[in-house]
Amino acid sequence: VMKELKGTKGGHLVVSVATTANYFVTQLLAEFSQQHEGINITLDVTNRHTLLDQLENHEPDMVIMGEPPKGHGLQSERLMENPLVVIAAPTHPLVGIGRPLLLSDVLAERFIVREKGSGTRSAIERHLHKYSASCKNSLEMRSNETIKHAVEAGLGLGIVSMHTIQPELDSGRLVILQVENFPIHRHWHVVMRKGKRLSPIAREFKQFVMAEAPRFIKNAKGK
Ligand code: PGA
Repeated sequence: VMKELKGTKGGHLVVSVATTANYFVTQLLAEFSQQHEGINITLDVTNRHTLLDQLENHEPDMVIMGEPPKGHGLQSERLMENPLVVIAAPTHPLVGIGRPLLLSDVLAERFIVREKGSGTRSAIERHLHKYSASCKNSLEMRSNETIKHAVEAGLGLGIVSMHTIQPELDSGRLVILQVENFPIHRHWHVVMRKGKRLSPIAREFKQFVMAEAPRFIKNAKGK
C-alpha cells in the first residue's frame, strides 16, 4: 500500500508544531513539498498549550511537540531527542571557568524564560523542581528568537532546545554552559487524536517525518 501512495499529488496538509520544532520542520516541509507537486500546506507554529487545544478541537492532521500528556484521547510516536541546554553570551562571567557549573552557580543568575503555556518552560520547571530548585530571577519572553537575542545581549542566561541555536553556536554568538544535571532530556513526538484517519498526503508526511527527522539529532556538548 505504501508504495502506491508514494508521490501522492495534491491534497491539503495541516500541521501544527511547537515553536521549538519550527527549526527543523520547515526544512522537512520544503523537501516533502518538492516530492509532491501541487500540495497545499498549512503550518501553524505555536506553544504547547495551544497545540493541545488544537488537538482537542480536531484542527490539525498532526502535531509535532514535546512530551504529550498521557490520556486525553491522543496517540503519539517518539521522533528524536530534544535536549534542553543552558546558553550564555560568550562574554558571560560563567563561560570558560574550567569546571562544570553547579546548579546553584547558574540559578544565582538571571534567566530569560518562555511564557506560561510553553512546553519548554514547564519542562524546565519540572526539572528544577526535582532538585528542589527554581529560577528566582527571571525575565519572561514569548519567543525563542527573542530569548536568544536577549541572552546574546547579556540580559541573562537561557534554557532552550538545542534545535533552536545552531547558527548562533556556529558563529560563536552563543555558547552552551556545562551545568550539572543538564541537558534536560526530552523527545519530540508526532501526536494526533486517537483513531484519527489521515488523508493519503498526511499519512505520507508522517512517514517522511519519522524517517527523516533523525538527521536533525543534536548533540548537546557544553563548554
Ligand atoms: P514550546 O515547545 O516551548 O514552544 O511549547 C516545546 C514543547 O511542546 O514541549
